[in-house]
Amino acid sequence: MDLAQRKRKIHESFEARYGVAPSCWVRAPGRVDLMGSHTDYNEGFVMTLSIDRDTWIAAAPRQDDRVHVESMNLEGECEFSTRDILHQRSEHWPMYVQGVAHVLQSEGFPISPCDALVHGTVPVRGGLSSSASLEAATAVLLEELGGFQLEKLRMAVACQRAENEVVGMNCGILDQYSSILGASDSAVLLDCRHLTHEYVQFPADLRVVICNTCAPRQLTGSEYGDRRAACEQGVRVLKEISETVVALRDVTIDDLDRYEQKLSPVVARRCRFIIEENDRVHALAAAFLQNDRDAVERLSRQSFEGARDLYEISVPAMDAMIAAMRNATGVVGARQAGAGFGGCMLAFVDADQVEDFIAGAASVYEKNTQIVPQIFPVETAPGAGRVEEVLR
Ligand code: GLA
Repeated sequence: MDLAQRKRKIHESFEARYGVAPSCWVRAPGRVDLMGSHTDYNEGFVMTLSIDRDTWIAAAPRQDDRVHVESMNLEGECEFSTRDILHQRSEHWPMYVQGVAHVLQSEGFPISPCDALVHGTVPVRGGLSSSASLEAATAVLLEELGGFQLEKLRMAVACQRAENEVVGMNCGILDQYSSILGASDSAVLLDCRHLTHEYVQFPADLRVVICNTCAPRQLTGSEYGDRRAACEQGVRVLKEISETVVALRDVTIDDLDRYEQKLSPVVARRCRFIIEENDRVHALAAAFLQNDRDAVERLSRQSFEGARDLYEISVPAMDAMIAAMRNATGVVGARQAGAGFGGCMLAFVDADQVEDFIAGAASVYEKNTQIVPQIFPVETAPGAGRVEEVLR
């Protein structure tokens, strides 16, 4: 389905539901992190790409005080009064919408009543930030309808607050920043301490191919919080090195080698992964600039091995997918994406061999797991904004 067809389909569905035509169209992309797993909440670096899998929202103003949101691809609906946004707490996707509305209102922005319809193409719970793309699209929608303008970084932080404080997921800034400040045609090298970024040109002869393990992903467990806690525990000890150590970002591998005995083996493994992964983000940026495929291969392999053996966020389906990706035609490098524990992984693939790669990786993975994966290439896409920006 091309974008014009997609817009028509949403328009028709909107009219059928609400009896009027939508007057406002916004979108926000998902993201894939190319390097830098779990570095964001350690005030480190991430190389991230905003992708052409995204969330669109069409909307029309209402005359009463209510916001009503339905979705073409997700169960349930969202309805609240702008005078008491969190009166009824929802369990699933509506909470992201309510969360953003609540945070923006608490920061003094007017929330405009509307009817809205969501259409998303980011795989849900797959590690490509479907939730952040819904949050970012909601923020842009409220901005458009409310007639105010939010500085982009402020919008990203507001969306992160919604997720931390209202949804209750203690995520870092990566997902929301990528969805709002991402750019077409380049990767973003994000500095999670200073909340700044630089663009890094992605090699023209490489493609990013998403390999969704389609194995159930359980991040609602305590794993994410446990990893964060282990890093914080490490920092409490490693502060002895110098008073300038406030996060793992400030610790070098030599420091860690010297202080390792003071940490429990688990905490030491977690810290080692983060410190090495931070370095790999810069190394990947250099590899892209020099179009050094050997380095892309090595860094991706080291990142996955660290994720599996040190940070322990791989699961059998991911191990099976990495084997399938590494053996497929055209592969340059392969690693995890998102938080791990299932969901999507990614491969850097020679641009001329994408189809062969997909066929090869899919058949090996399916044969070894009896799970049918979803494997598809992605393109870069601009950060959150009006739909017309991508229709041009
Ligand atoms: C999830 C979180 C992000 C980040 C990644 C891991 O996507 O939402 O903040 O921590 O995991 O890099």
